[in-house]
Amino acid sequence: MPNIVVVGAQWGDEGKGKVVDVITPHVNVVVRYQGGNNAGHTVVVGREKYVLHSIPSGILHPGCRCVVGCGVVVDPGSLIEEMESLVQRGVTLDGNLFISKNAHLIMPYHPALDRASEAKLGKRRIGTTGKGVGPAYVDKAARVGIRMADLLNEALFREKLELNVAQKNRLLREIYDAQTFTVEEILNQYLRYAGWLAPYITDTALLLSKWIDSGYSVLFEGAQGTMLDIDHGTYPYITSSSTTAGGAATGTGVPPTRLHGVLGVSKAYATRVGGGPFPTEMQGAIAEHIRGRGNEYGATTGRPRRCGWFDGIVARYAVRVNGLDTVALTKLDVLDQCETVKVCVGYRYRGDVLTEFPEDETVMAEAVPVYEELSGWLAPTGGFQLEAELPAKARQYLARLEELTGVPLCLISTGPQRAETILVEDSPLTRWFPSVRSSLP
Ligand code: GDP
Ligand code: IMO
Ligand code: MG
Repeated sequence: MPNIVVVGAQWGDEGKGKVVDVITPHVNVVVRYQGGNNAGHTVVVGREKYVLHSIPSGILHPGCRCVVGCGVVVDPGSLIEEMESLVQRGVTLDGNLFISKNAHLIMPYHPALDRASEAKLGKRRIGTTGKGVGPAYVDKAARVGIRMADLLNEALFREKLELNVAQKNRLLREIYDAQTFTVEEILNQYLRYAGWLAPYITDTALLLSKWIDSGYSVLFEGAQGTMLDIDHGTYPYITSSSTTAGGAATGTGVPPTRLHGVLGVSKAYATRVGGGPFPTEMQGAIAEHIRGRGNEYGATTGRPRRCGWFDGIVARYAVRVNGLDTVALTKLDVLDQCETVKVCVGYRYRGDVLTEFPEDETVMAEAVPVYEELSGWLAPTGGFQLEAELPAKARQYLARLEELTGVPLCLISTGPQRAETILVEDSPLTRWFPSVRSSLP
């Protein structure tokens, strides 16, 4: 049974939650492998809308096992809130949710450091979600992080906490002139969390290995997107984890030899939240139009998302660094009223035209997109389920995107609902999961 990685091919918010939700009935397990509650994955089921932050989107399907892997950083307070809200809405967690012992904890001083550091950066600030994700990964790399397993060992937890609070308080007070923390306060709060979370904390790498041995199929749900990857993204305007496909192995303990394919999720245009280069960014009325039609406001912070045209350079880069086999294209319907639709096919930089993504901060910041203009289809596609029924010009647009990325499309999303989906007849997706054919028209 195939184990497939789903990654964001742009700057996050591509619609990974929806795509994972559509595929979940055909797998046994969904795993998050990086990021934390900076993620906001939206799944719309009928009149119900769920926004998942730390829990895999698969949780909405009864019987799907969901794993929070070792590569994720977990804010236990936020996780418990998310768990409670799901339980209240009738979702079963017991027996379906497993949290890695090795996942690092986001501690109360992490969001404090996140905010203080952003304030200090001034106009060079990243525009983080303020959830403390970056500082938690800093501690992980500095080898002073506190992990899920530590929550279950009070003496060890206290020892690590004392060391951290002393260190962070100095940082907060002396560098940032910010509020400090007390050990006892955090200890009491986190021991309460430990009581809640203990039944879910386990060796998830071992579990996954056994499940795969027994023939289970695993879907790896990426958070954020390729361009926010700590190594391959638009550094330093990135998140602090490996969002690309390689992260699926290190962030779960499932070896790369047991992964069978990678599916990238991309919007039919582009968005970005926070600072950093975004060559195809739209300005003025068109940006407002797309933001309005696409409801482009952050699922985690509510911030308006920056909107732009589809960037073929970024898309091909995502294919290369993730080894994408196929792309699921979302939000085609948002472009329905555009008279012309632009696609970036190169970057003009100081007299040259670049056709490969420049891994250089200064080049990217100055890159001016070279556009190809296609005429818009000016007809509704919202809710469409069959490719053949799409307007001819929409099909031409899709064909051009496919040509530019060099990999086939497997799915076209035409609305937030599960059923608002066009399944491409013969694609890597239908070959991995032949049963998806029967679940969609
Ligand atoms: P994720 O972080 O990649 O899971 O994406 P988000 O949930 O942050 O943002 C995607 C938004 O687009 C959500 O509000 C989805 O409900 C919505 N969405 C997903 N696919 C489509 C689509 O094809 N058309 C429209 N109009 N909305 C979509
Ligand atoms: P999903 O999984 C879009 C962005 C932030 C900021 C940068 C660093 O829903 O696609 P961080 O808080 O991670 O240190 O912020 O990354 N960012 C996202 N943008 N979607 C996300 O997640 C994001 N998670 C972080 O806006 O620019
Ligand atoms: Mg999101």
